[in-house]
Amino acid sequence: MVVFRADALEKLQGDFTRRHIISFDQFDPQSLEILFAMTQQMRGIAQTAQPSQLLAGQLVTLLFYEPSSRTMASFDGAVKQLGGNTIVITNPQQFSSAAKGETFSDSIRTFEAYCDAIVLRHPETGSAKTASSVAEHVPIINAGDGIGEHPTQALLDLFTILEHTGKLSGLKGLVVGDILNGRTIHSLLRGLALYEGNTVYLLAPQELRLSRKDFALFENRNVRLVEINSTDEIPGGCDFWYWTRVQKERFLNAADYERLNNRFVATQEILNRHGSDKTILMHPLPRVGEIEDALDKDPRAVYLRSQIRNGMYVRMALLTLVLGKAF
Ligand code: NCD
Repeated sequence: MVVFRADALEKLQGDFTRRHIISFDQFDPQSLEILFAMTQQMRGIAQTAQPSQLLAGQLVTLLFYEPSSRTMASFDGAVKQLGGNTIVITNPQQFSSAAKGETFSDSIRTFEAYCDAIVLRHPETGSAKTASSVAEHVPIINAGDGIGEHPTQALLDLFTILEHTGKLSGLKGLVVGDILNGRTIHSLLRGLALYEGNTVYLLAPQELRLSRKDFALFENRNVRLVEINSTDEIPGGCDFWYWTRVQKERFLNAADYERLNNRFVATQEILNRHGSDKTILMHPLPRVGEIEDALDKDPRAVYLRSQIRNGMYVRMALLTLVLGKAF
């Protein structure tokens, strides 16, 4: 039996082997350097016709209590590109024993009996951490826990920024949308705070600003956050714009969602006015109207291009490092 190290949620410090990946707080520049170097190699592997055998014999459970397109497909693709296999469980609350009243802990203990790692998406903040405290044999990878975090999305987002700008420090960025509920943002800001001299401008409706608790947390970290109130205040010369949707599923009241949705829509005119030639326009996707379709043709729009493709490469690298195969 494999017994997990008690420091499972502490900094990775370059050693990913059989570690849970729950929060971006576990990452450090050294670990990201290792992961991103391997991500480059994974791109090469994915582009060849033959699957690699790095994950041969490994079975990864994709346990998704919430809808997903990119995260699910890119993890599934990542495992298979490396010669491994997946058990895909979608909607367990409806189709698994959870529907009969099985506890979350028992479900985790059950699925871990069949596989080598569990990739978990769940509507409750903190669920991935709970799963990691219950699992006895396998690493848990957080694929989004409620409004908490989405660390593997931030990995692909940072890799995309690095690929396009050549750096992860001294960046000027803009984050727009549902900053309160957007878990991808919560992980991305943690990542940007690991490097020197990053400034992020935050644009959200008043009700969807970063929580004051998180704002205070980031004030003590190495990232400068500046809240702005309208697209007119977007500073020139940003390295990246990170646009996001309003997270409809987190609203108790449909009218509140309708009132706050699409307050800020990215248009060609706004990008031309406030962006530079080098500003990249990112979005974790799905988008639901907050970036006009006409922008897709702009070469600066990377969301349906490199950004999604990087999702599979970065997850291939992460799984290889976590499942501990020699490269
Ligand atoms: C994000 C998520 O699930 O948090 N989607 C994704 O994984 N790319 C963003 C979102 O749903 O808005």
